[in-house]
Amino acid sequence: MTPTSPDWSALRADFPILDQQVHGQPLIYFDNAATSQKPRSVIAALTHYYEHDNANVHRGIHELSNRSTIAFEAARTRTAKFINARSAEEIIFTRGTTESINLVAQSWGTKNLKPGDVVLLTEMEHHSNIVPWQLLAARTGATVRYLPVTGDEGLLDLSRLGEFLTPAVKILSLVHISNALGTVNPVAKLCARARQLGAVTLVDAAQSAGHMLVDVQEIGCDFLALSGHKICGPTGIGVLYGRGEVLEAMPPWQGGGEMILTVGYDKPTFKPPPHRFEAGTPDISGPIGLHAAMDYLDAIGRDRIFQHDQELAEHAYEQLRTKLSGIRLFGPRRGRAGLVSFLLPDVHAHDVVTLADQGGVALRGGHHCTQPLMHKLGVESTARASFYFYNTRAEVDRFVEVLQEVQKFFTA
Ligand SMILES: Cc1ncc(COP(=O)(O)O)c(C=O)c1O
Repeated sequence: MTPTSPDWSALRADFPILDQQVHGQPLIYFDNAATSQKPRSVIAALTHYYEHDNANVHRGIHELSNRSTIAFEAARTRTAKFINARSAEEIIFTRGTTESINLVAQSWGTKNLKPGDVVLLTEMEHHSNIVPWQLLAARTGATVRYLPVTGDEGLLDLSRLGEFLTPAVKILSLVHISNALGTVNPVAKLCARARQLGAVTLVDAAQSAGHMLVDVQEIGCDFLALSGHKICGPTGIGVLYGRGEVLEAMPPWQGGGEMILTVGYDKPTFKPPPHRFEAGTPDISGPIGLHAAMDYLDAIGRDRIFQHDQELAEHAYEQLRTKLSGIRLFGPRRGRAGLVSFLLPDVHAHDVVTLADQGGVALRGGHHCTQPLMHKLGVESTARASFYFYNTRAEVDRFVEVLQEVQKFFTA
């Protein structure tokens, strides 16, 4: 640990949920890629809002409505700073990454795609970055293509980029950190290549935004999606970043209150972005909780969090590789993000997760909403341990011991 590193173990005290036993064992929470735990400051921000300020936003003149509106819009400004957007108008609140991508597919996609156009994804996308495009393709006649993944080491096969990134590609939409492999994709480089061809770009930052510094200007993307619940914030709140000029040209995707300027019996007129894309009463406490989460993460430093995640993941990878015979590990050996996906020989991933749970270790087993990738790798599912800054090396060591017990159980 460098002198400036936080005391990672001490940060655990900020997370009341971590201090408990599961099946008589201390909880080891390694399901952070599914959702992160929430620090006291986020819980307190939510409680404070409901105890003191709760009112609807943007429409009231009374004090509570003013306070709510100020807090809601302050969260937008904070989010812009968190990802280095040029302005708060580039931040749309959604329910999460899934809704953010659906918004782009429905609004931008319906307006801009026609038969012959290509939506370029990668073979490692989460279903939320596949299905909206498949639905769009069915509506517009566009085609969805997938940049290949190399195999178990889980890298994008960039040697084939020229074959896939052609002038027919109108949008490149790809994941920053793969939730199934732990791969960190070179998104800035790929967005630059796509831009040269005039394509629009979307980055799925669900697994990266809370784990590393994410700067939309540095990445050079047109859209970026993230989920609050994966970055210490509440469930039900997410973000779509859209580059100003691109958002300006997009039609609404849902109609209702809040997003209109005027409504007549014949037709409405719409507010400018971001409000054009936020119909109805929004989740108000969500952005307020998210604001507290962003403050919390940046007080630690996302560059440090990334380093800590990587150290845990590399340690876990090496321990699993050397201590569990026949284990199949997915994703790159070096430079991986904070998760490890694996299969023990002749043991179903669900059995691994069930037995690990008896040892107090929360893992995830399944296709991780990446069925096409699983199919490509020739597996149905994997088990996955995913880390965050409040996890420790001692927890990784205990997790490896538990897996050794699981392996013994199945080979006895
Ligand atoms: C890479 C990736 N993209 C998108 C999503 C979808 O996020 P949400 O369910 O919060 O919309 C996830 C969730 O696991 C994810 O890991």
